[in-house]
Amino acid sequence: MVDTDKCRITHYPAKVLAGKAQPVEKIDDNIRRLVEKMTDIMLENKGVGLAAPQAGVPLRLFIISLDQTKEGIKVFINPTVTPIGELDLVEEGCLSIPDIYTKIRRYKKCKVTATDLASNEFTEEAEGLYARALQHEFDHIEGITIADRMGSTAKIVHRKKLKKLAEEYKEAVEE
Ligand code: NI
Repeated sequence: MVDTDKCRITHYPAKVLAGKAQPVEKIDDNIRRLVEKMTDIMLENKGVGLAAPQAGVPLRLFIISLDQTKEGIKVFINPTVTPIGELDLVEEGCLSIPDIYTKIRRYKKCKVTATDLASNEFTEEAEGLYARALQHEFDHIEGITIADRMGSTAKIVHRKKLKKLAEEYKEAVEE
């Protein structure tokens, strides 16, 4: 049972962002409340996607709204994301790593299979920003962030900012 009143945006280097999330066992009112809470957090922070670990909950669930509206939100529960074709290098940010924008290598296309809030399984092929968002959010439930994905030069460029974040959000790691 997730205490959704305690859900807050989590920041690097919080432990919950670095671990593999657990499958959602049952899609019930608690999960629906969690999705509502995640929606609020995502829209408040002007994101296009949010994974449950970013709300402090280590579950395999994320939401995406490419146009940043409530109506545009899609829910992905226990998803699998399979890359298709070629790689691409595009700048990305992450709500959990504020003020850092860095080029990340991802596949141009991918396939996603997931379950929605009505417990229906669906499969889609995605490209462009959608494909990128799916891969970014899937990374989150695998415990991977753009801080792990960035190249070695970017790591040097962003070293100070990452260090500052690590100091600012140190308590989150020790919790
Ligand atoms: Ni992110």
